Amino acid sequence: MDNFTFHNPTRIIFGKESVGQIGGVIKEAGGKRVLLVAGGGSIRKNGVYDTVARSLKEAGLTWVEAWGVRPNPVLAKAREIIALAQKEKVDAVLAVGGGSVIDTAKSVAAGVFLQDLWAAFERQVEVTTALPIFVVLTMSGTGSEMDPLAVLTHEADVKKWVLRSPALFPVASIIDPTVQQSLPWHQTVNGAIDAMTHVMEFYFLGTWEETTMALDESLMRTIIKMTHLLQQNPLGYEARANLAWAASLALNGLTGVGLREGDFATHRLETAMSAVFPEIAHGAGLGVLFPAWILYMKDYNPATFARWAREVWEAGSVEEGVARMRLTFQGWDAPVTLEELGVSEADIPAIVAAALKVGILGRLKELTPGDLSAILRLAL
Ligand code: NZQ
Ligand code: ZN
Repeated sequence: MDNFTFHNPTRIIFGKESVGQIGGVIKEAGGKRVLLVAGGGSIRKNGVYDTVARSLKEAGLTWVEAWGVRPNPVLAKAREIIALAQKEKVDAVLAVGGGSVIDTAKSVAAGVFLQDLWAAFERQVEVTTALPIFVVLTMSGTGSEMDPLAVLTHEADVKKWVLRSPALFPVASIIDPTVQQSLPWHQTVNGAIDAMTHVMEFYFLGTWEETTMALDESLMRTIIKMTHLLQQNPLGYEARANLAWAASLALNGLTGVGLREGDFATHRLETAMSAVFPEIAHGAGLGVLFPAWILYMKDYNPATFARWAREVWEAGSVEEGVARMRLTFQGWDAPVTLEELGVSEADIPAIVAAALKVGILGRLKELTPGDLSAILRLAL
């Protein structure tokens, strides 16, 4: 096992009817004037917005609202909200939504202190400070509620990149699984697949990090089991709650302890694909690409791939494990081929070009353009 430091400062408030605590939580942390960041309106329909607004009011806070963050969020929107945050002199940022809203809120929280937010994504400047970030999570999957990352798309440059800084850990995140009952089924599945692949990005680098490996297997099995249960009963609280918590744990640092920084080549490839095709949801893209990556990479750490097939899928070979994973995703009505995502062989060069902009992809193996094309072809 590698030497490591583990520190996750985000306070998690989890459970039924916890959303109403948000005002008190922000006030306790010293916030007075809040920037509320939201998406396309789902929080108005499911009542979350009303609960949040009431709670902010009861805590004596004032706030300003920025709506309209779209899935696969873009730099231009973050810049627009930064200008609002500066004009309104907010001292806290509250994301009410899924990963796209949280990532935009995080980018704004850091961006108010930067001359050029994108320069930080390009790693030309370091993010050392940000406004305090608070989250009311409405969709589990990305882990953004408990991690130091934000992902935005620079549309003109066709780059969907990650910003990482300890300053981006939320101060506190509220996870009330009941608010996720309003999710369309495919979004629940997108989140489940995303969370599962976060675990896999670390896991396949492993050999004898038994604590982490066993934790990772347990999380993968839990995510699969809870998604099956939710498919039978979308209102089941225990399944929703366990899926939500497993998704937070999947990228809060624990699953990667002793496994360096994970591989994340598949994630980089998927974010490149959704930079080229912004209508592709992150989880849906990963469900198509990850099986292909495993088939391509299985001989680079064979004992671990075999262990994954056995422990997660009760399969006798990696190929059988991958087949079961694809069948499981299909059973959840998720796409398993690029064709189903509307991507064809002719699109592969553009996706590879977008992926290579980020630099080196892959730790288990540094992937060449030829490797990336081959993985994409396995996903056709
Ligand atoms: O915009 P609204 O109206 O809120 O609707 C959203 C959106 O249309 C809807 N939704 C969310 N909660 C709902 C709901 N609908 C009904 N009921 C609810 N309770 O779901 C749709 C998708 O939301 P989005 O936030 O885009 O999904 P997700 O949470 O999967 O976030 C995806 C983004 O996060 C990035 C992805 O690349 C993608 O851009 N990621 C962020 C990471 C991080 N910060 O750590 C890591 C991940 O690997 C990932 O890259
Ligand atoms: Zn992801």
